Amino acid sequence: MLYTVTNLTDYTEASLVRAASELLEHLRAESDAVESAETWKLFRDRWIGRKNGILKQVRELWLNPAPAEIKPRVGVIYRDIELQIEDVIATQKKKYEAIAIFRKATSDIFLDATLPLDITLPGIHRPIGAEHPVIKTMNEIIGVFRNLGYSVEEGPEIETDYYNFEALNFPPNHSARDTQDTLFIAGQESKPPRDRLLLRTHTSPVQIHTMEKMRPPVRVVCPGKLHRNDAPDPTHSPIFHQVEGLAVDTNITFCDLKGTLDHAMKALFGSNVKTRFYPSFFPFTEPSADVQISCIFCDGKGARDGAPCRNCKASGWIELLGCGMVDPNVYGFVDYDATKVSGFAFGMGVERVAILKYGVDDIQLFFQGDVRFLEQFG
Ligand code: DAH
Repeated sequence: MLYTVTNLTDYTEASLVRAASELLEHLRAESDAVESAETWKLFRDRWIGRKNGILKQVRELWLNPAPAEIKPRVGVIYRDIELQIEDVIATQKKKYEAIAIFRKATSDIFLDATLPLDITLPGIHRPIGAEHPVIKTMNEIIGVFRNLGYSVEEGPEIETDYYNFEALNFPPNHSARDTQDTLFIAGQESKPPRDRLLLRTHTSPVQIHTMEKMRPPVRVVCPGKLHRNDAPDPTHSPIFHQVEGLAVDTNITFCDLKGTLDHAMKALFGSNVKTRFYPSFFPFTEPSADVQISCIFCDGKGARDGAPCRNCKASGWIELLGCGMVDPNVYGFVDYDATKVSGFAFGMGVERVAILKYGVDDIQLFFQGDVRFLEQFG
């Protein structure tokens, strides 16, 4: 029942003290409910409202009618009640102001900041982010070579024609440039051709940057993003990633290249995987090869469940990367002595590795940012 002030019939000290402490008990109990500017105002008016506040009733029902000889004592009690009420009202004001500040500061956490704080409610679930599958795969590839003692180098995504082509032994106007559908930066006609800027079409230019600043022995992997003027479809993307590799030292042979890449493929796809080196051409390596791995879907048999394997077109082999022995002409561009050093290079597409490892059937999935796809790699 809501507290009300009643007439005092008995003005003995015991009865006065009892009445006062009953009032103060209600004061404190009611003050607990204050938690906003609105509830505080109601509380304040109920206790010290000028027209009919509880304090005014105490004056009218206890103090004014008190017999003259008791009045001073009732006055002291009245004054004490008044001070305590004012104190509680001031404290409650501070409390609701602090609550308001807290609610404002946490309003992005608590969906409804007008509700009282209930710390027993379940928290808001914040999903933990995960590495993007392309970055994850890139780091896995890098990890394999780090374990072999390779370090990591990076280069710019906007390159000059010189680094992307010329120093990699693509002579001006050579038809090998046609295999890399290049996006040139517009408006550079006044520059000499080798200084013109383009979006790098492969990570191979990082080989040149590396050899310009390091003397042999060199063992580096160069991860990065590249761009080609290709229309997007399930197997093409105008942006994709490669990891380039370069090892230059004395007496490096094609055997070292084969051993290194065979090990890397087994580390990435499992120790049962076999590798095959198929003759190919790249201007910056001689000889050059495409590396194929035995099909991981049909174990190299070319058939699965009695039907030709679609992943390797029934050949039992999947082509994965390009490689070769660094062409002596390339050493000429970076001031290495081609009669003293030899080396190998390789470049692999990261999305291609990820597609095979994770059985993804559309390269576009890597670039659409659909969380339902991405969260599967967490
Ligand atoms: N840069 C080549 C490409 O994007 C891939 C490549 C082939 C890199 C042979 C190499 C290499 O380092 O030796 O098509």
